[in-house]
Amino acid sequence: MVARTEFYRRYDASSGIQELMVDLDLALSGPRKMLMLGGGNPGRLPEMEEFFRGEMDHLMSDSDRFERALGVYDHPGGNVPFRKAIARLLEQDCGWDVGPENIALTQGSQNAFFLLMNLLGGRREDGSTANIVFPMSPEYIGYEDVGIQAGTLKSFLPRVTLLDDYSFRYEIDFQRLQIDETTGAVCISRPCNPTGNNVSDQELEQLYSLCSQKDVPLIIDAAYGLPFPGIVFDNSTPFYRDGCIVILSLSKLGLPGLRTGIVVAPPDIVSRIEKLNSIFNLSCGGMGPALVRRSIENGSLLNQCRKVLQPHYRRARDLAVEKLKAGLGRMGLRIHESGGAFFLWLWFDADISTSILYQKLKEAGVIVVPGKYYFPGLKDDFDHRDRCIRLSFSQDLDTIEQGIDKLIEVTGQLLEGSK
Ligand SMILES: Cc1ncc(COP(=O)(O)O)c(C=O)c1O
Repeated sequence: MVARTEFYRRYDASSGIQELMVDLDLALSGPRKMLMLGGGNPGRLPEMEEFFRGEMDHLMSDSDRFERALGVYDHPGGNVPFRKAIARLLEQDCGWDVGPENIALTQGSQNAFFLLMNLLGGRREDGSTANIVFPMSPEYIGYEDVGIQAGTLKSFLPRVTLLDDYSFRYEIDFQRLQIDETTGAVCISRPCNPTGNNVSDQELEQLYSLCSQKDVPLIIDAAYGLPFPGIVFDNSTPFYRDGCIVILSLSKLGLPGLRTGIVVAPPDIVSRIEKLNSIFNLSCGGMGPALVRRSIENGSLLNQCRKVLQPHYRRARDLAVEKLKAGLGRMGLRIHESGGAFFLWLWFDADISTSILYQKLKEAGVIVVPGKYYFPGLKDDFDHRDRCIRLSFSQDLDTIEQGIDKLIEVTGQLLEGSK
C-alpha cells in the first residue's frame, strides 16, 4: 500500500466537530420533527430576513454591482471597498486605530482559525513546537483538530466561581495559566461558545498584558461579539490593541450561508492571510461583502443589531433561564452566567452523565449538545466534561419552551432512575 502523507494521517480519524455535525444533521433529516436546542445556527428572525431581502433588492437594482459580485474574483485579501467600509466602522464605532491594511476576509471565520492557528502554532524552524493556548476550558469545538501538527492545542482549567444558588462562572486561573516561549498564540472566544461567558474588560486587559510581556499574539474570536452581531448582554466593550487579532463574522447576523469571516490584525498577518487565501481559494466569495457593504456604510446594520438582534436573543435568554431555574434548580442544575452569544451552559452538580442525558433527550425528540465536545486541547481531568450540556436559545420561543419542558422531564426521570 502507498504510504500515507502526514496530512492524510492527521485527518484520517473523524474529529469531534465532524462527528457532531453529522449527528445533528442525521437527527434533523429524519422523519421525526425534533426540538432543536443544539447546533450553532443563528435563529431565523423575520425582521432581519426582511432587512437583508431589502439589501438584496438594492444590490440587484444598483447598476452592475450584482453582476460584479458574481462575476469577478476579488482581491485575495477580500473585496477592497468592503474592507475599507469595515475599517471605517471599527474606527468610528469602536475607536480602533485600523485601516483596510488591517483587514483580511476569509471563507467564514472557521477558515480564519485554521489559517491562523497553523501560521502561529505548530513546528518551528528550530524544531520546537509553538502551542495555541486556550486560557480557559471549555472552548469552541471548532478549534479542535485545527492544528495540522497534532498536539498543538493547549488548554487550561478554569476557576469555578459559584455566584448564587443557580449560577456560576468560569474565570481565567491566572495562577495556573502559562504563557511562555512555547506559546505561539493565545485564543479566547468572547462571548464564549459554548458557555456564554463574556470575559470582562478587566480580565481581558490582564490576559492581554501577559501576552504583551511575552510578545505573544492574542486572538479574540468575536463571532457573537461587538460591534456586530453584538449579541452581548453586559456592558463589556470591544477590544483591539497592538498585538491583538480580532475575528468577526457575518454568520451570526443570520448569514452563515455567505461564509464571510473578517480578520482584524497587524498588516504582516493580513498579508499572510492574503497569500494563504490565494492558495486555498484564489479569493473569497463576493456575495457577503456585496450584500452587507451598504448597511455597514450607512450604519443601518449596527442599528438592526441593536434594535432587533440583541433584544431578540436577550428575550429568548431570559425566558430559557427562568424556565430552567424553576424546573431544574432543585435537581442540582447551575447555569453559567450568560454574558452573550445564544447558548446556555448547564452544569448538573448531581449524579448524572450528560452523554447519557443527550441520548435520552434525542430519543425524546430534543437535540442539545453534550459538553464533552468543548474541551479542545485540555489534558487534565475535569468532571465538567460529562456534567454539562450546551443548550441553544436561537430558535423560536415555542421550541425553547417545549424543549426545556422535555429536558426537565427527562432529567427528572434519569435522576429518579439513578437512586
Ligand atoms: C465561537 C465561534 N467562532 C467561530 C465560528 C465559525 O463561524 P463562521 O465560520 O460561520 O464564521 C463559530 C460558529 O459556530 C463560533 O461559534
